[in-house]
Amino acid sequence: MTSSFTRDDEGRLTVGGLPLEDIAATHGTPLYVYSGDGIRADYRNFAAAVAPVDGKVHFALKANSALGVIALLASQGAGADIVSGGELQRALAAGVPAAKIVFSGVGKTTAEIGAALDAGIGQINAESAAEVEAISRIAATRGVVAPVALRVNVDVAPDTHAKISTGQRSTKFGVSISQNEAAALYRRLADDSHIRPAGLAVHIGSQICDLDPFERAYTALLEFSSALRGEGLPVPTLDLGGGIGVDYDAGTPTDFTDYGKLVSKVFYDSGFQIGFEPGRSIVANNGALLTRVIYIKDGDNKRFVIVDAAMNDLLRPTLYEAYHAVLPLAPTGALEGPADIVGPVCETGDYLAQDRMMPALAEGDGLAVMSAGAYGAVMASSYNSRPPAGEVMVLDGECHVLRRQRDIAELLAEEVIPVLS
Ligand code: LLP
Repeated sequence: MTSSFTRDDEGRLTVGGLPLEDIAATHGTPLYVYSGDGIRADYRNFAAAVAPVDGKVHFALKANSALGVIALLASQGAGADIVSGGELQRALAAGVPAAKIVFSGVGKTTAEIGAALDAGIGQINAESAAEVEAISRIAATRGVVAPVALRVNVDVAPDTHAKISTGQRSTKFGVSISQNEAAALYRRLADDSHIRPAGLAVHIGSQICDLDPFERAYTALLEFSSALRGEGLPVPTLDLGGGIGVDYDAGTPTDFTDYGKLVSKVFYDSGFQIGFEPGRSIVANNGALLTRVIYIKDGDNKRFVIVDAAMNDLLRPTLYEAYHAVLPLAPTGALEGPADIVGPVCETGDYLAQDRMMPALAEGDGLAVMSAGAYGAVMASSYNSRPPAGEVMVLDGECHVLRRQRDIAELLAEEVIPVLS
C-alpha cells in the first residue's frame, strides 16, 4: 500500500496531489496537515476487515479530535469512543449520533456521566465497582436506564511502550477477570434496575504490532463472557478496544487483513455484537507536522537543525522516545550527515528527531515530521507561550482549514490578572 504522502515527478512532497510546500506557504508553520482521503480509505479498510463479524467501529477520539476529522469519519458511518465530557461535546458537535458513542475511561465524573445519559449515548464502559454505583445513582435521579458494559482486565501484556500498555493487572484499567471480581460485578450490573447490562470491553494497550497479545486477550474475553452467558446473564456486546500498531518507519497505511481474520477466527458466529475502538491506525500515517528551519547550528559533535515546531506541538518524541521520520518538503539532495531536529523550547528534551541522517538544509527550508496524525495535535500545549500549530485537511484535491493556529492574544484573553493591592 502506498503512503498518503508521496513525492511528485519533480520530487516535491505532496498530499492528495497538493505540494506540502504550497500548503506551508499559504497557511504558515508549524502546521498539521491531514490526508482526508487517506483517513477515509483507512477507515473503510478497517470496517471491511471487521465486516464478517458485523463489527461496529467507534473511532477513538483521543487520537485526533479535530471536528473536521470526526465529521469525515462520521460521514463514513463511524461512531466515537470518548473519554471525557469534552470529547462527548466534540462527537455530538461533529454529527456522531449519540447511539454510536461509547464512553471509556477510569475517572468519569458525576457531571460527565450525567451529560452522557442526557445525550442518550449508546454505551458506558465502567471500570470499577465505585463507578457502577455512581452510574446507577445518577441514572436513578434522572429516571433513566443506563447502558453499561464492564471493562475487564484480562492480564495480557503486549509488547509496547510501558506508558501505553494497559492490559496487565498492575495497571489502573478494568476489573480483573481472575478471582471472580469481574463476574461478581457483572451480576450486580445485571441486577440493577437503573442499568441495562451492555456487555464487556477490553483494551490492552496501544501501538501493538504483534497479533498474539490480541488473540490471547480476545480468547480470554470470549471464555469469560461465555461463562457469564452460561449463568443466564445478558451479554449483548463485546468491545475489543483499539491498539493496532502502525509502521512509523515506512509511513504506509496499516493492513487490517490479518487482524480481521483473527477477529473472525475468535468471534465468528459467537452470537455477540462486536465493537472496536481504533484510533492510531486510522489517522497516524495520514498526518504530518510541517515546520521550517529557523537556524542551523553546528554543535561540538553534532549538527542541530532548529525548527519552528517543538515539543509543545508534538510531544511523542519527548514523552515516549517515539520515532517520527522527518522529510524535506523540497526534492532531497545527498545525505549530509546526522542531525538533531530540535524546537525552540528551553529543554534538552525538546527534540523531534535525534541523530537522523539528513540532506543539506538551510534556513527557511520546509520539513515534514511524518506519522503525526495520531496523538499529535491532541497532545499539544502552549508551553513557553507558544500557541499550538493549526490544522488543515486535504480532501478530494482541496485543502480545508480545520483549526487555525491560535493567536497569543487569544491565549492571554483567557486569563485574569487579580487586583493586587
Ligand atoms: N480504547 C481505549 C479504551 C483506549 O485507552 C485507547 C487508547 C484506544 C481505544 C485507542 O487506541 P489506539 O487504536 O489509538 O492504539 N498517547 C499515546 C497513545 C495513548 C493511547 C491511549 N489509549 C501515544 O502517543 O502513543
